[in-house]
Amino acid sequence: MEKLLGLLILVVYNCLQTSARPQSRQPEQVHLSLGVKPSQMVVTWLTQDDVNATVMVEYGTQLGQYQYQALGQTTVFVDGGAGQTVRYIHRAKMVVAPGQRYFYHVGSNAGWSNMFYFNTLPAGTNISYKVCIFGDLGIVNGVSFGRLQRDAQRGAFDLVIHVGDFAYDLSAENGTWGDQFMRQIEPIAAYVPYMVVAGNHEETYNYSNYVNLFTMPNSSDNQYYSFDMGPVHFVALSTEYYGFFYKYGLTPVFNQFKWLNDDLAKANQNRDNVPWILTYMHRPLYCSNENSEECMGLDNDLIRNGVPGVPGLEDTFNTHAIDFGFWGHEHSYERMWPVYNRNVYNQSADPYHNAPAPIYVVTGSAGCYSLHAGFDQDPAPWSAVRALDYGYSILTVYNYTHLYLQQISDDKNGAVIDSLWITKDRNHYYNAVYRNSLRSVHIPKPKRSENHVFMDDSNEIH
Ligand SMILES: [Fe+2]
Repeated sequence: MEKLLGLLILVVYNCLQTSARPQSRQPEQVHLSLGVKPSQMVVTWLTQDDVNATVMVEYGTQLGQYQYQALGQTTVFVDGGAGQTVRYIHRAKMVVAPGQRYFYHVGSNAGWSNMFYFNTLPAGTNISYKVCIFGDLGIVNGVSFGRLQRDAQRGAFDLVIHVGDFAYDLSAENGTWGDQFMRQIEPIAAYVPYMVVAGNHEETYNYSNYVNLFTMPNSSDNQYYSFDMGPVHFVALSTEYYGFFYKYGLTPVFNQFKWLNDDLAKANQNRDNVPWILTYMHRPLYCSNENSEECMGLDNDLIRNGVPGVPGLEDTFNTHAIDFGFWGHEHSYERMWPVYNRNVYNQSADPYHNAPAPIYVVTGSAGCYSLHAGFDQDPAPWSAVRALDYGYSILTVYNYTHLYLQQISDDKNGAVIDSLWITKDRNHYYNAVYRNSLRSVHIPKPKRSENHVFMDDSNEIH
C-alpha cells in the first residue's frame, strides 16, 4: 500500500513538473525606434519573466567593445486575453552621434541578447537616406518578411515605417501571435528604427498590445507623434480614432486634431530647413479597391472631410501644404495623382513637380492572411498606378528638392514595378492661388445608398 501511495505521489509530481512553463529571462523581440531628438535611439525588448536585475543596453562604436551603458526601464504588461499572460517590456535610450555605426546588446545579469548594430545618419538637414514603407504584414502569408529582413541587414534602407495592421493580430492567442510577429521583425528592427502607427487590427483591449510593445517619440500610446529626419518632417496619425469613435468617443479625435494643427504650424515655420512634410496613417482617404464603400463611402468621408462638429483631415493637410500621405489597410499598391477635395491635378506635363496638392500612396501589400484587396475594374480618376503584387515602397530622400519613390514587388523577385521622381523648387509650397492657376479635373461625389451601414467593422478583414 505504501509503495502504491509512493508511486501515485511520484506520478502526480512528474505531471506537475512537465506542466510547468519554462522560465525565460532571455531578451527577445529587440527593436529600435527613433527618440525625441536625432541624438537618441531607443531600444525596446521583452522578457517572458521578471529578470529581477538591472536591465540596460550596452553599446559602442567598436565591434564587441561597449563603451557606453544606458539603464532601462521595465513595464509589466498583462495581456487582455483570457490567459492574462504577463510579459515584461524593457526600454532604454541610447545617446548617439551622427554618421556612426553602433554595436549593441540588451539584457541584464539574467541574460543578454545577440549583438546587433545600427547606423546613424549624417548631421544636417539636406541629407540623403532611404525609407521603407508598408502596411498590413501578418505572420500568416507574411510574404515580404524575407526580403525586408535581408535588405535591412544589407543597409538597403535607413528607416522603416509600418502603417498599421500587425501580425493579424498582436493580441491573438493571449498575445503569442504578437510574440511571434515581434520575433520576426527583430531581424529588421534590431538594425533599423521601426516606426509604427496603429491599424484597426490593433484595437483589441483598447490597443494595449500595440501600446506596450512599441515606443514612439513624444507619445505615451504610440498613436500620433512626429519627428524630423534630414529634410523631411514625418507625422504619424491615428485613423482608428475615427474608425472606433463609437467605442471610445470623440475626445481622441479632437485631441489629435489640435495637436496636428499645432505640429504642422510649427513644421511650416521650419520649412526652410525641413521642406518636405510626410504624413502616414492606416486607412486611406482615396483608393479604388473593389470594396469601394471603403474608398468612397462614409467611413473614408468621415476621416477625409469630417461631419459637422467633427473635423476631418484633408483640409488641414491642404492648409499646411503637406507633401505626402502614406496609407495601408487596402492590401494593394496604389499611387494617386495630386488630389485635393476630389480635384485631380494631372493635366500638366509633370504633375509631381511642384505638386499643387498632396501625393498619396496606398502601400498595404506586405502580405497577410486575407490576401489581396482587389481593384474596381476602372481606376478612380485620382489613381495613377496600381498593382496587386505583394511588396513595399522605398522612398529615397535625396535632398531639399528631390525624392524618388519605388514600389518593390515580392511576386517579381524584388523588381521595381513603379517609380517616379517627386521634385519641387526650393521654397515652393502650394496654396490656393497656385492651385487655381492649374487645370484640374473635378470628380463629383457619387450618390450613395441611404442604407449604408456606417462604420460597420463586423466583417472587417483589412
Ligand atoms: Fe486595416
